[in-house]
Amino acid sequence: MLLRTIPVLLLHLSLYLRLGAASASCSCSSVIVPVHIDVLVPKDPTDVFGGLKSNETSQRRVNTTYDIYGVFCQPNAGNEDVLQLLAHGGSYTSQYWSPPIEEFRNYSYSAFSCERGLPSLAVDLLGAGLSSRPANASDVQFPTSAAALSQLAQHLKTASILPGVRPFQKIIGIGHSLGSALLNFGAIVDGAQSPFDAMVLTSILIFGPDDPPVGSGTSAVPIAARDADPLRWDALDPAYVTINNRTAFYPTDPTAYSPRMLLFDGFTKDVLPLTIAAQGASSSIPAANYTGAVAKVVCAKDQVLCATGRCVDVEALTAAEEVVWPAAKSFEVLVLQGSGHDLNLDFRAGAAFETTFGLVTKFSK
Ligand SMILES: *[C@@H]1O[C@H](CO)[C@@H](O)[C@H](O)[C@H]1NC(C)=O
Ligand SMILES: *[C@@H]1O[C@H](CO)[C@@H](O)[C@H](O)[C@H]1NC(C)=O
Ligand SMILES: *[C@@H]1O[C@H](CO)[C@@H](O)[C@H](O)[C@H]1NC(C)=O
Ligand SMILES: *[C@@H]1O[C@H](CO)[C@@H](O)[C@H](O)[C@H]1NC(C)=O
Ligand SMILES: *[C@@H]1O[C@H](CO)[C@@H](O)[C@H](O)[C@H]1NC(C)=O
Ligand SMILES: *[C@@H]1O[C@H](CO)[C@@H](O)[C@H](O)[C@H]1NC(C)=O
Repeated sequence: MLLRTIPVLLLHLSLYLRLGAASASCSCSSVIVPVHIDVLVPKDPTDVFGGLKSNETSQRRVNTTYDIYGVFCQPNAGNEDVLQLLAHGGSYTSQYWSPPIEEFRNYSYSAFSCERGLPSLAVDLLGAGLSSRPANASDVQFPTSAAALSQLAQHLKTASILPGVRPFQKIIGIGHSLGSALLNFGAIVDGAQSPFDAMVLTSILIFGPDDPPVGSGTSAVPIAARDADPLRWDALDPAYVTINNRTAFYPTDPTAYSPRMLLFDGFTKDVLPLTIAAQGASSSIPAANYTGAVAKVVCAKDQVLCATGRCVDVEALTAAEEVVWPAAKSFEVLVLQGSGHDLNLDFRAGAAFETTFGLVTKFSK
């Protein structure tokens, strides 16, 4: 058990040291925050709405405390009131926001935003990376994972994350793919009580209950994690899956990204519960009472979301997406040309960082 965790710990340690050394204006540290969850989940974890349309007889209670791991980056001088909470996509970890390797040190959104004066906390989703991984994958559903993010944000508005750091007044949720879908779910459930003052949801669009699962028709096929890598995941519930072939997360044009990034991505991949990938149709239910500002950022070369041509007409796409955010302070959809699903990991990442940071700056005011 100890042996299995060491490589992951070393990668995180190198991230800590690298970011710490990279910039005199910024320091990063690993944190673990316990969050108490008390939610109802559907007894049938393949329920595509994640329980939002269920009655009590078809639900069961998950009432427990989980640890959420994160990397907190703080500028030595800058905004002390606004925190960016970064939620990665399925089969990734917090490292998506800061690949811990020398060659890719400039692909760090955490460093990019920190050097420009904004703190961030990049978390490992429940079940991924160094956060708690419930033995039974069916405990990790949209209601549980979204509540973990909301509880964490709530906590950071009232308690200090590290000695000497004040609680934050505003928290902006920034998601990628599954992370965006979970923030969206939290906005539906929490409504006006949401601890997130605004949301930047990258690489996610509404999924209908009859749409094929995210990634189908691409090489992004989920397989049981214990079959994919027995050394790391032999003991896991087979409902924890990973994705071996990660090319669908990049543009089809192989000159649009570094082949070594694809290799590194495969080497550092993580797990997600199969059923959580199925609950994305919750995004078709309106976040009727969420009043913060919302922006969706999608990418023209995203093989997972945009292969059908859905992202060409931005006006039509905006009209289709804004219907589920009737009470939002503002809503916009931005389409990045040239980028793929993992907008932070290809050669257009610099433009993606500018876009995300620009939205956050606007929403921080
Ligand atoms: C609750 O939902 C289940 C499954 O959808 C359904 O079979 C049952 O009739 C519902 N019960 C009530 C009281 O509505
Ligand atoms: C939920 O868990 C807490 C802490 O363990 C406990 O105090 C509480 O009674 C539980 N709630 C229910 C409804 O079981
Ligand atoms: C996981 O939990 C569910 C609900 O309690 C239960 O039906 C299922 O049998 C459990 N699975 C395993 C592998 O323990
Ligand atoms: C991954 O999928 C792509 C696209 O389907 C395919 O061209 C490639 O050969 C696959 N890579 C591996 C290692 O299987
Ligand atoms: C939104 O708020 C209204 C009024 O408080 C409430 O009746 C309704 O159930 C809420 N909708 C959701 C989706 O929570
Ligand atoms: C990092 O630098 C490399 C080499 O100059 C460049 O190709 C890549 O686009 C840069 N990435 C970002 C996010 O700026």
